[in-house]
Order: sequence, then C-alpha cells, then structure tokens
Amino acid sequence: MCGIVGYVGRPKSLEVLLGGLRRLEYRGYDSAGVAIITEEGELVTRKRAGKLQVLVDDLAAEPLTDGSTGIGHTRWATHGGPTDVNAHPHLSRDGKLALIHNGIIENFAELRAELLADGYTFESETDTEVAAKLLGREYEAGGGLAAALGRVVVRLEGAFTLLALHRDEPLVVVGARRNSPLVIGLGDGENFLGSDVAAFVEHTQRAVAIGQDQIVTITPDSVLVTDFFGTRVIPSEFQVSWDASAAEKGGWSSFMAKEISEQPEAVANTLRTRIHHDRIELPELAGLEEALTDIDRIVIIACGTASYAGMLGKYALEKWARIPVEVQLSHEFRYSEPVLTPRTLVVSISQSGETMDTLMAVKYAIEAGAATLSICNTQGATIARESDAVIYTHAGPEVAVASTKAFVAQIAALYLFGLHLARVRGTLSAPAIAEALEELSGIPAKLEQVLLTSTRIQELAKWMSDSRAVLFLGRHVGYPVALEGALKLKELAYIHAEGFAAGELKHGPIALIEPGQPVFVIVPSPRDPNSLHAKVVSNIQEIRARGARILAVAEQGDAAVLPFADEVIPIPLAGALFEPLLAVVPLQIFAMELATAKGLDVDQPRNLAKSVTVE
Ligand code: F6R
Repeated sequence: MCGIVGYVGRPKSLEVLLGGLRRLEYRGYDSAGVAIITEEGELVTRKRAGKLQVLVDDLAAEPLTDGSTGIGHTRWATHGGPTDVNAHPHLSRDGKLALIHNGIIENFAELRAELLADGYTFESETDTEVAAKLLGREYEAGGGLAAALGRVVVRLEGAFTLLALHRDEPLVVVGARRNSPLVIGLGDGENFLGSDVAAFVEHTQRAVAIGQDQIVTITPDSVLVTDFFGTRVIPSEFQVSWDASAAEKGGWSSFMAKEISEQPEAVANTLRTRIHHDRIELPELAGLEEALTDIDRIVIIACGTASYAGMLGKYALEKWARIPVEVQLSHEFRYSEPVLTPRTLVVSISQSGETMDTLMAVKYAIEAGAATLSICNTQGATIARESDAVIYTHAGPEVAVASTKAFVAQIAALYLFGLHLARVRGTLSAPAIAEALEELSGIPAKLEQVLLTSTRIQELAKWMSDSRAVLFLGRHVGYPVALEGALKLKELAYIHAEGFAAGELKHGPIALIEPGQPVFVIVPSPRDPNSLHAKVVSNIQEIRARGARILAVAEQGDAAVLPFADEVIPIPLAGALFEPLLAVVPLQIFAMELATAKGLDVDQPRNLAKSVTVE
C-alpha cells in the first residue's frame, strides 16, 4: 500500500524523492515523510500527517538541507493512526539511521517486547519503528548496513519492503523485500529504488525487479543484489514501456477522467500484436501449452473490480472453451480448502500484480500443484513473476485509485485467452473464433462512441448528487457490470450502492424499492439469443410499478425500453459477451461526475489505496 522511494546520486535528493512520492501517492496518502543525509553528513528528516502536499508546504515554509542520499514514504496506516509521529521514516535509538516500510510485520509485538526488555523506548504505535530500532541495534554489532539488514529481515514475519540509510554510510541506500514490491531504477551516476517504476520513470526507464527475499544496496555507481544471507544474485534488467508523460494528468481534471478516456486505447493495446487477422498469438503462454491441453477446470481468483472482470471471464471461457470455471475472491480462496489438482488452472487477475490477497492465493495454488496464469497490468510485478505464465494487459499506468481502464483491458485479455483455449481444445470452429476476434477488435471504436455520451451523464450526476442510495441491476453478463457500477459509486461518491442480479430482486431486494429510488438497469440487447431482454424489461416494469426511477443502459434503438425508462443511456450494438465492455463506461462516468459534483477527490477516495499489499 505505502509508496517508497530511495535515491543516491547528486545533491538533489529532495526533488527526486518528492517527485517520486507524488507519482506514488496513489498507493497511500494519509501521511508522508523523507530522510536525507546532507552533504555535511547529517541525517535530517521531516514527516507530516495528511496528503503529500502537507509535507511539501511544510518543507517550503521551513526548508530541509538537501543531500545526495535519501528515502521517502507515503503511508496507508496499518499500525497506529495517521499522525505525524506514526508517519515514516522511523529512527534508530541513536538517531543515525532512518527506515521506511511497506507491509505488515506480523511478529512486531514479540520483537517490541524484546527491545523494551533491552531498555528501548518507542515514540510511535507502528510496527515500523520496531524494525528501525532493531536495525539500529544490529548495525552497532558491526558488518555494515546491508549485513545488519540481512540479520534483521530473517527475524521478521509477514510482508515487507524496507529501505534504510545510515549517516555513517553516506552514499548508500539499502532495501529488502518479502511479498511486497521493490524495483531498482538504473541511472548514470545515480540510482533509484521505488515501490514501482512510477517512482523514477521521469529519470530513467531502465529498471530491475528485485526477487523474493532479496536485499539490494545502491550507491551512485553500483547496484548489488543478494539473498538475505549475502549470496549475490544476478537480477535481470527490463525497459519500462511507458514514459513519465503516461503517468501525468496531461490537461485532464483528474487521473480518473484521463483513464476513463484512455479505455479505447487500453483495449486496443491489449489486443495489438496478439490478433493477426483471424489468428490469436499469445507466445507468453508457451510454458503453459502442454498444461492447457490437459486442464479440466479453471479457478479464477481476484479481488474487487478485477473479480468482476473474472466473472465475465467465466461466461466467456465456459461458452467458448466448454470448461468449468469458478470465480473466487482471493481472500476467501485459500481458506475454503479448494480442491486443486495438476489439471486445475488457476487464473489470477490483478492490475497491480501486488495485491497481497491474490498473491497469497497464487502461492497457495502453486503449492497445491495447480498450473497458474496471471493477467496483470504491471510489468515485473510479483504475481506475474510467481505464476507459470502471464498475459500482460497493456493498459498503461493506472494512477487513479478506482480501477477503470485496467478493468476493460482485463476483460479483453480474458476473452483473448478464452478464444485461444477454445482453439486448443477444439471447442470453437475457426470461423466462430474469427467472428469473435472481429467483434473484440471493434470494441475500441465502440468505446469511443460511448465516451461521447459523457455530457448527458454529467448532467444526470449533478441532478442526483444528493441521492442517498442507488441500485444497479443486471442479468447474465450485465450482473458483473451492475456490481462494478455499484462499487464505483461507493468508492468515489461514498453513496450506498448495491448491485443485484435482476432475477434475484423478487427474492428480497425489491423491498428496498420506494418512490423515487434511482435504479440503473443494464439491459441486454433485444437481439440476445437467450431472450433475456424481455425478462429484464419485465423486471423494469416490476420496480417501476413500485415507484423506482429507471436509468437504463441499453442498446441504441432499443424501442422496448423507452416507455418504461426515465432515462436511456445508449450503447452501440455488440454481441452479448461484448456488451459489458461498453455498458460499464457510463457507470464509471456517472460515479466520477457525481463525486465531482459533491466536491470529492476522485483520484484518491478516502480510506483507500491503489495497491493493497496487506491481507
Ligand atoms: C476498485 C478497485 C479495486 C481493485 C482490487 C484489486 O476500483 O480498484 O477493487 O480492483 O483492489 O486490485 P488489483 O487489480 O491491483 O489486484
């Protein structure tokens, strides 16, 4: 969750750290802090509760001496509330060493008790301060900072990325990671560390991912990676495929607005290079090809929005590849004692590739002997690296905390995989695959058309800004869309919102309908082969009779809905499985506009963080 930056190089640490933290603020934003070793060899720190801007203003009012070595942190509170004292960095007892941390140290109480018994005192309520004190004590035992860190991390349980510096090693930053992300940025006479490449992409696009249970030491001219016991490992370098401008707002009012508008491109990029006329090319599945001919079941694991993409994947995979698919929330998965065999394929979906719940579920699946595939948006992310194969969605960096473009790219990637599997299993004819690919390739242009309806949705959102509850209904593939519409509204506008399968309404939720209750209904195409259209129109009539205000997302020209809807938001014609890619967009825009009308921060909603790296 927290954002971490480290820098060593020229005497401009503060600028690098604050620039990196600004780009990482989406990871956590309840407090921020920096520690710098000045050119005179002093260790100076500053930390403040609140958004990064509070720290920036504080530094402007009372500048901190700059230096060539520094670490910076934005926090998402776990142990202890978001206060100045609990903010990172935390210091060793002698004040010579500073440490920042992402993750949770599960055995912190035991370690704290040990330190208390040894005469240590603590200022904060954090698990991080325990690690800082422990590292300070180990440093005094000799061997240097990296060796001391090695002796500390083997005692820690849980998930962590730690960065530390010590004023007696003025041109060194050390880091360690377990189940929590850390990437190196390679510069010229300077080197960087970050929770993800966004931390340093404005300075360098050369990156190195650090593996599980590894320690890194950076100086201006060197990078050394070892395991926790000091044995050198040779990590591999990769090139970041996007530049700093991709992570800028570029004239948009918010990252959310920008990312919603980027959805046609996100889907196009996910498909590009993978569709050749009527053929699918997924060379990244090479390592799984044999397993794919043998699997008898698929389990999709994901959280939140990614799990709704997974639900859509189930419809597509079962229809096209005729294989049983179940979708499980990652955090429920491993506690349900799932039945996994070498013939089970576990597909994880994660934008960040760092969601701890999903990572732990993937590890569980690997241990149980299942084959694993990840659908991931972040290059080199832990989940991607742990899995047997990865299909990257090329949606570009998603900075707004609420997911939008990653969602449609995840659906596109799942559909590509579904069609590939159908070919491998021989369950779809070549012309049927070609037809589906053509439909998929047409989605970016249709998304452009949907985006044109945003002005009308903005007006609607303004009128509805004092709504207390909004319901969303859908059937079949419309159901995950309803769930996603409700989630977006909860997250962004803090309005109570629920998504229901339309058929379930009469089994209870219809009691919620009272005069004036706004209900979004995702209406299937009248051309739907399952005749769901008529059923959904009946559902609309049932709730309308009880006073609901109907906002229908329906295929353009659908005359049957018009008489019963207070508002129809049209989407272009598309095959049933492809409609969700279009129908979700007005709901994203609605949530964003309503939150904006309420004066809320749509990029960084309260209590949330982009990358959920705690369980
Ligand atoms: C909702 C949202 C979250 C994420 C979920 C999984 O807008 O962004 O529900 O979808 O936390 O995150 P990833 O995809 O990074 O694993």
